[in-house]
Amino acid sequence: MNNNTFVHKYIRSLIHPEDLTVDMTAGNGNDTLFLSELSKEVIAFDISAEAIRRTKERIKERNNVALIHDSHVNVDRYVNRKVRLFIFNLGYLPHSEETTPSKADDTLLAFQKAYELLEENGYIVITFYLGHRGGKDEFYLLDGYIRKNRFQITETYSQNKIDSPVTYIIRKR
Ligand SMILES: C[S@@+](CC[C@H](N)C(=O)[O-])C[C@H]1O[C@@H](n2cnc3c(N)ncnc32)[C@H](O)[C@@H]1O
Repeated sequence: MNNNTFVHKYIRSLIHPEDLTVDMTAGNGNDTLFLSELSKEVIAFDISAEAIRRTKERIKERNNVALIHDSHVNVDRYVNRKVRLFIFNLGYLPHSEETTPSKADDTLLAFQKAYELLEENGYIVITFYLGHRGGKDEFYLLDGYIRKNRFQITETYSQNKIDSPVTYIIRKR
């Protein structure tokens, strides 16, 4: 099972029909579509115009998604109420000429803002891609921060191969 399949299986029971959820990296729109089927409202971010175009196409049947073409570091400009669950699916937009991978410092700032916006017992789901240098730096920075601050990791998932992606599910106490 790949990380995305694991994430969708795991979070299905964590989201209720009245919830607000946020996709911090819309990409091809797979996670945005999934969240829109489970929650009342979804806010989805991406810095890539191509990702926004692809996600718009993917969710064209849905009427509960706000798509935002901006960096997730600005999440607090757009979200002004408590959120049940955030998804970060980091790295590159697949199958794209554009190279706009997430960057460690921005991801850390966005993670901190997301944690502030989470409701009590809400979740952050974050998947790191270790197969490229920037991805490893991003993982070590966030992993260090999460452990130093003793955030509650309720689940981790990885396929146990060298450099395979790592997912953390974090619950706000
Ligand atoms: C692996 S893809 C996401 C896949 C997506 N969740 C899906 O279901 O198809 C990573 C995405 O993160 C986006 N990204 C990178 N840095 C970002 C930032 N600072 N703010 C928002 N999106 C960012 C990239 O443009 C790319 O589309």
